[in-house]
Amino acid sequence: MDLKLKNKTVFVTGASRGIGEATARFLAMEGCNIFVGYHTGFDSAENIAMDIRRMGRKAWLVKMNMADENEVNIGVREIIEIAGSLDILVLNAGHNILTPFENLKNEEWDEIIRINLSGPFYIINALKNHFNEGSSVILVSSVAGHTGAPHHVHYAAAKAGMINLTRSLAKAMAPRTRVNCVAPGLTRTDMGEKTMAVLTDNYVKEKLLAQRMADPHEIGALIAFLASPVSGFIYGETININGGRDFR
Ligand SMILES: NC(=O)c1ccc[n+]([C@@H]2O[C@H](COP(=O)([O-])OP(=O)(O)OC[C@H]3O[C@@H](n4cnc5c(N)ncnc54)[C@H](OP(=O)(O)O)[C@@H]3O)[C@@H](O)[C@H]2O)c1
Repeated sequence: MDLKLKNKTVFVTGASRGIGEATARFLAMEGCNIFVGYHTGFDSAENIAMDIRRMGRKAWLVKMNMADENEVNIGVREIIEIAGSLDILVLNAGHNILTPFENLKNEEWDEIIRINLSGPFYIINALKNHFNEGSSVILVSSVAGHTGAPHHVHYAAAKAGMINLTRSLAKAMAPRTRVNCVAPGLTRTDMGEKTMAVLTDNYVKEKLLAQRMADPHEIGALIAFLASPVSGFIYGETININGGRDFR
């Protein structure tokens, strides 16, 4: 299927590894030019950008800590200076700290909410006047945003917030920009492997109909579909991609 994404300008946050990296590579293969967002992973982000350039596309690095409004504004300014406007924004960067509720401190709550919920808002607020006609924004939430989770109460609350932020932004930004969300389940990335460590031994076999973790490329492919005009009648949705962990 031709996703009709040639020469689109894309910013993927958290593209230095995991789901963000897979998404950036997928979109580059579809013909997009990519702003590769990263926080601490400069070397990895640089390698990914070089691979994208070898495909004949343009790629630039954008460093920002999602939790820092000032850094977000500087990064967004760089993007606008280079590209002028955006076609696709993937709000993928995220962070989790696995702390049982009984030990959770307010500071940790604030940090996780800032990175996972405030950060995406800071970015979209800074970019809101710079989206092209027919543009697309995709937020990356989590199955935890539907189910809740005792070992990451803060993260699950932030991810639930992203689902409703998606609906509000979809209404506020239509029809020029479509806003949608994906809610992945356990995915084979650094974050997914850390989450596995607090789950029961048989979790994958007992709870996932797929009986396996997702490959990050499966999530990237869904994000690319939502970014594409091929999905042009989908607005404000959160699409679950969780191997049958939870139905909505
Ligand atoms: N893996 C799963 O099982 C799973 C399940 C459901 C949802 N998700 C969601 O999917 C998204 C991607 O997760 P992943 O599994 O690919 O995670 P990951 O492998 O841990 O990668 C996280 C990415 O986010 C970036 N990042 C982390 N903190 C940041 C901050 N403060 N500011 C800017 N960037 C930051 C990292 O950048 P640097 O490396 O450059 O620091 C990295 O590129 C996240 O939103 C996550 O919540 C993941």
